[in-house]
Parts: sequence; C-alpha cells; structure tokens
Amino acid sequence: MTTAPEPGDSAAADAVTWVEDGTSRSAPWLTTGSQKPPKKVVVVDDALRADDAMRLTSEGAALLWRGDYQGARQLLDALKRRLDRLRVKADPDPAVTFHRHRQARGHRTRILGMVLIELGDDFAVDLRRAPDIRAACRAAYGDDAAPGVASLQELLGAVGAHEWRRRGVEIPALGARIHPHYGVFAPTRNEYVDLVAEAELPAAATAPGSVAFDIGTGTGVLAAVLARRGVARVVATDIEARAVACAADNVDRLGYGDRVEVVRTDVFPDGRADLLLCNPPWVPASPTSSLEMGVFDRRGQMLADFVRGIPGHLTDGGEAWLVLSDLAERLGLRTREQLTDLFEGSGLTVLGRVDTRPRHPRAVEGDAGTGAGRDPLATARTAEVVSLWRLASRHA
Ligand SMILES: C[S@@+](CC[C@H](N)C(=O)[O-])C[C@H]1O[C@@H](n2cnc3c(N)ncnc32)[C@H](O)[C@@H]1O
Repeated sequence: MTTAPEPGDSAAADAVTWVEDGTSRSAPWLTTGSQKPPKKVVVVDDALRADDAMRLTSEGAALLWRGDYQGARQLLDALKRRLDRLRVKADPDPAVTFHRHRQARGHRTRILGMVLIELGDDFAVDLRRAPDIRAACRAAYGDDAAPGVASLQELLGAVGAHEWRRRGVEIPALGARIHPHYGVFAPTRNEYVDLVAEAELPAAATAPGSVAFDIGTGTGVLAAVLARRGVARVVATDIEARAVACAADNVDRLGYGDRVEVVRTDVFPDGRADLLLCNPPWVPASPTSSLEMGVFDRRGQMLADFVRGIPGHLTDGGEAWLVLSDLAERLGLRTREQLTDLFEGSGLTVLGRVDTRPRHPRAVEGDAGTGAGRDPLATARTAEVVSLWRLASRHA
C-alpha cells in the first residue's frame, strides 16, 4: 500500500524576468526547494570573466547563461574556487565556529545558485555542447513542470542524483540495493542501518500481528530492514512527498509492499506500535537547502517530537529505538544531559544503548570541507559515535 505524492510537488510557480536584446522577457522559476527567484538577472555568455561573475553575483545579480554549456560549468567551478578561499574565523566556542560555517555555507549556496540556465519544452537545453538532462529534470521537477529557468548548480545535482537513483546504493543488511530519489536522504552510511539490523528485537515486535512505525523513513531502508527481520506490519511515515514516493518504490521493489505502508504525515501516524523507530536528522541547525533537510533538524524539532510522542504511541511491552549520533554534542549544539533530560521529561526510561563508530571515509580520514578553513562538522565526524537508544515508557 502506498500514498503517492502530487506530481511536481515542490516545483515553484514564481517567475524570473530579464531584458534581452531590448525586450523584456519572463519564464517560470524552476526550483526543487524554497529558493525565491532572483530579482535581478543579467544575460551573459563565455565572454564573462570569473572575477566579474563573482562581483555581479555578490551584488545580487543572477547570470542567465547564453554561452557554451561546458563554459557555464567552468564558470561555476571558478566561482567555487573563489568561495573556497574565503576563511571563517574560528572561535573558542565550537558552537560559534559551527554557526559561522553555516552562514558561509548559506552564502556559498546562494552565490552558486545564481548561474542560470533556460530549459525549453520537456527540459531540453538549447546551448552548445549541452547534454540531454531531460530524464533527470523530470525526476527532480516532476513531469508536469512547465519550461523555465533553473540554477545550473541545482541541475547538476539533479543529474548526479538521477544516476544514483538508477544505480542504487548497496545495503548489506538487506542483501539488496536501495534507490534514492532526488532530494531524499540516501543511506550511504551502513553503520546505522546495521545497528537497526542487529539490535535485539523486543518479543512483541516479532509476534503474529506485530506492528512497527518507522518515523521519517526517507528511502524506506529501515522499514525494509524491520520487515526483513519479521515484523508483521510496518507503517513508515515521512513529511516529504519525495521521500514517501521513494520509500514506496523501494519497499515494492524489495517485495515488502504488502507489509509496509508508507504515509505522508508529520511524525507519527495514528495508533500504537510494538516498535517505534526513528533516525532523525542528527544536527540541530537550519538547513540551507532542501538537500540538507535529512542532516539538519531546525531547533532539534523532529527529535523532540519523536521522543515526546513515544508514550502515546507505544504498546505495553513495546520499545522505541532512536538512532542518533553524538555529532551535535561534539559541535557544542546539544549536551548529553539535554538529551537524557528530554527522555526523562517525556516519561521514558533508557533500556540500553548500542554504540558504533562510522565507517564512511570522512569519519576515518576527516575532510577539509569546502573552504573557509577546516569544516567543524568534518572535524567532529572523525570522532563521531552513532548510537541506537532503546527506550520504553516508565509507567508501562
Ligand atoms: C535522517 S533522515 C532518515 C531517513 C531514513 N530513515 C534513514 O535512516 O535512512 C530523516 C528523515 O525524516 C524526515 N522528516 C523530517 N521531519 C519530519 C517530520 N516532522 N515528520 C516525518 N518525517 C520527517 C525527512 O524528510 C527525512 O526523510
């Protein structure tokens, strides 16, 4: 059973206007996120120098590209190199350094989003040496989106995501591949999936008629793991239409479509379950683009909503599993006491905790991040611990 999203759910209907050859023109603004259309647009081509592009974009002018497609990509790379040279001042307080980095990241996202490409009917790009990106655009903007103007940076993301969706990500715990859709949090890190695949299930969760809720299901990977482990019925929720469609697609491909129901809702569905599972975004900070929404949880809202909702959705004898890394603690954005106080204040008891260390390359090697000195998020990742917290209602 699945709930389909509305087609082109997040493509916006605002317009971009500019003057070209003395004529005023306008086209719909295509975006997969919430970015507003640029107010000022100038028409440019291969004659534009990177330093001038940097100056124009910093002054708030977006650049509608009429030159060679590969030239636009080179311009974007040149802007990235210039942005990477900007430094963020480190502060003794890691939280202050982190917020400065987030601001720099937001600035970078804005500037890079200002190189624009016009897309024709069915997303055809009428520029020299332009590749065929129609299928990737349909997946990102929806089949019904009108021709319009989009940021090249977003288009390149759509092309990369399309390829990823086609190939899928190998999940050893499933013995299968998961196919992430554009904009859906991809399970590229297996350690948290393994935690869910290996933690001891409460007896109630594998009894006949057992029910689990997978809250914030993303690609549906953890819902599929629970179904594979023998939970009779899983209700997987997500607030994002793209994630709902993606999870439904993946559970169907894996043959669990009759046992996993995917619904679009805010946190919990109605009713109670023997196992409540949630892997919320791990860092309490504001996302700077829709693609960051799987990583950043504004003010830790989803974490708090899940934890506080546990007593009202857990059956007697049931367990709640919270998958969370200590990144936020390492960045000075949350203390361990604040987390345990949240459990305590929600009437929960901690039954146990299973810890693991990430195996993804950035955790092992660290990563300088994108400019602005060393990225505090990347530094924190080298020491990160990911935990599965087993929680139950105190009064059950
Ligand atoms: C870190 S991702 C985890 C995805 C998946 N469970 C996994 O482990 O790979 C968090 C997910 O929660 C979803 N989400 C965020 N806020 C939500 C809310 N209020 N209700 C339901 N889902 C939400 C996001 O769209 C995203 O798919």
